[in-house]
Amino acid sequence: MRVLGIETSCDETGIAVYDEEQGLLSHALYSQVKLHADYGGVVPELASRDHVRKIVPLIREALAKADTRIEDLDGIAYTKGPGLIGALLVGACVGRSLAFAWNKPAVGVHHMEGHLLAPMLEEDAPEFPFVALLVSGGHSMLVKVEGIGRYEVLGESIDDAAGEAFDKTAKLMGLDYPGGPRLAKLAAKGEMAGYKFPRPMTDRPGLDFSFSGLKTYAANTIAAEPDDEQTRANIARAFEEAVVDTMVIKCRRALEQTGFKRLVIAGGVSANTRLRSSLAELMQSRGGKVFYPRGEFCTDNGAMIAYAGLQRLKAGEREPLAVKGQPRWPLDTLEAIS
Ligand code: KG4
Ligand code: ZN
Repeated sequence: MRVLGIETSCDETGIAVYDEEQGLLSHALYSQVKLHADYGGVVPELASRDHVRKIVPLIREALAKADTRIEDLDGIAYTKGPGLIGALLVGACVGRSLAFAWNKPAVGVHHMEGHLLAPMLEEDAPEFPFVALLVSGGHSMLVKVEGIGRYEVLGESIDDAAGEAFDKTAKLMGLDYPGGPRLAKLAAKGEMAGYKFPRPMTDRPGLDFSFSGLKTYAANTIAAEPDDEQTRANIARAFEEAVVDTMVIKCRRALEQTGFKRLVIAGGVSANTRLRSSLAELMQSRGGKVFYPRGEFCTDNGAMIAYAGLQRLKAGEREPLAVKGQPRWPLDTLEAIS
């Protein structure tokens, strides 16, 4: 089975071709980062319009790179939600219509299931069951995963998502959008300077996160300290350590609670090197293992949608003819298929 995957939930147009036997055949990506940078964040209407401009050329590119003709395709998968409704509808309209015109089945994929399954694109893919830490610009959650679609959300952010906290704190430091990777780069030059950032919600039981207090703590610290590069780097480091530490504590709890030995981290923030190395240490100390996608598949991409879509098409899932986006879509309402 060979599937075309389409991702347009936010500010990246991602297209890919995935083959059940040969694996990932191609992927093409256009990031709108520059388009939104002047506004300090994603402008939904601009995002939708840019997806309209890029989606067809990228589909042509991905099919050509995969040496795939229309008749070689067995289905089309597109991100149906969650995300920005206008952006989602571009992928849904194009994906659903192409499937209709080409007489192929279509399937609407859950964006976070895409992220969750992204490590399956790697050679060293995890087996089930595992705990997944999903940390992106829009979501932070810990999920007990026993198979595809067998998800129990153990905890999630009650306010800002992890990536959002990175982006907002970076903005306070005068860094351009998207601030997460820029803040991480600045933090690498930081020294331990005695800042005592809180580790939110770690002093009580439970697996929910809260990151908005950290952003406020960062704002107050920035305001109280001198405005030079080294001080900012030190604050960035203290902030990053607080976020990472908090996640390590929650992951340890989730592993204790489930008894699982495998941890998957995915979503944009899983590109963070401090997070990766700290979780690798945690898993080593527990005799387990951490899995994550390669850097380019941590952030939004079409490959993860093609992969997840192929699994669901194989299980017989079909999207009806109506074009639908689902901006809000709880992960644990998905059908179990493995
Ligand atoms: O998964 P993603 O591409 O989009 C959403 O589905 O939201 O995640 C984007 C988020 C942004 O908030 C970005 O700042 C953050 O991931 N991010 C990082 C790093 N790379 C991307 N945050 C911290 N450190 C990084 N290295
Ligand atoms: Zn995402």
